[in-house]
Amino acid sequence: MSKVVPELPSQLAHVQVRPARAEDVQDIFETIGYWAGQGKMLVRPMQNIFENLRDFFVAEIDGQFAGCGALHVLWGDIAEVRGLAVRPEAQAKGVGQKIVAACEDEARRIGIPTVFAWTYSVGFFERCGFRLIDKTKELHPRVWSECLRCPFFVGCNENGVVKRLHGVPEPRNLPEPPPTQVPPGIR
Ligand SMILES: CC(C)(COP(=O)(O)OP(=O)(O)OC[C@H]1O[C@@H](n2cnc3c(N)ncnc32)[C@H](O)[C@@H]1OP(=O)(O)O)[C@@H](O)C(=O)NCCC(=O)NCCS
Repeated sequence: MSKVVPELPSQLAHVQVRPARAEDVQDIFETIGYWAGQGKMLVRPMQNIFENLRDFFVAEIDGQFAGCGALHVLWGDIAEVRGLAVRPEAQAKGVGQKIVAACEDEARRIGIPTVFAWTYSVGFFERCGFRLIDKTKELHPRVWSECLRCPFFVGCNENGVVKRLHGVPEPRNLPEPPPTQVPPGIR
């Protein structure tokens, strides 16, 4: 990583989360790219980040980029937490949890009752109140929306986790979602 976030004891870390800005894209791109290189998440091209910039939140510790994450609306009843990446130097200071909380607040604000994520970090999401789901049975048809550009499309081994947000009613008059192609090997 090109920039170094100062080491801070977890209990002293001052984490702030805000909507992303154009000037954050390089940091978002590098941080996601770093973890994609470690096989922890899907690489995200810079153009994709710009096009979805209004989905993204950025976390800062003492004004320095510490991590990012996005809430992407999939349908009227579900949104996906994606692009969640904390700089290695800023891990275990509550950054990831605060970004997920910001995504949940955004889902509440726009009236979406369920948040979903694909992940290898199930334990982290469980700590955030998500539950692991059986991806052969319980998945909303729209959660496969990004799978077609994934190199692990065939025989996907990511886990699906979901959280029903308290106090957010199911939207009324929702049309049926269009069918989405399910990766081979899932069912
Ligand atoms: C997974 C990730 C987002 C977690 O962010 P983080 O800022 O390090 O985590 P936090 O400090 O917010 O942790 C919150 C809680 O989850 C726990 N936790 C964090 N990572 C965990 C893991 N992999 N397994 C189990 N628990 C975990 C922490 O111990 C903490 O628990 P506590 O509240 O009891 O102390 C971050 O490590 C990361 O970017 N990893 C690489 C990329 C990745 O896997 N992204 C997710 C793709 S969807």
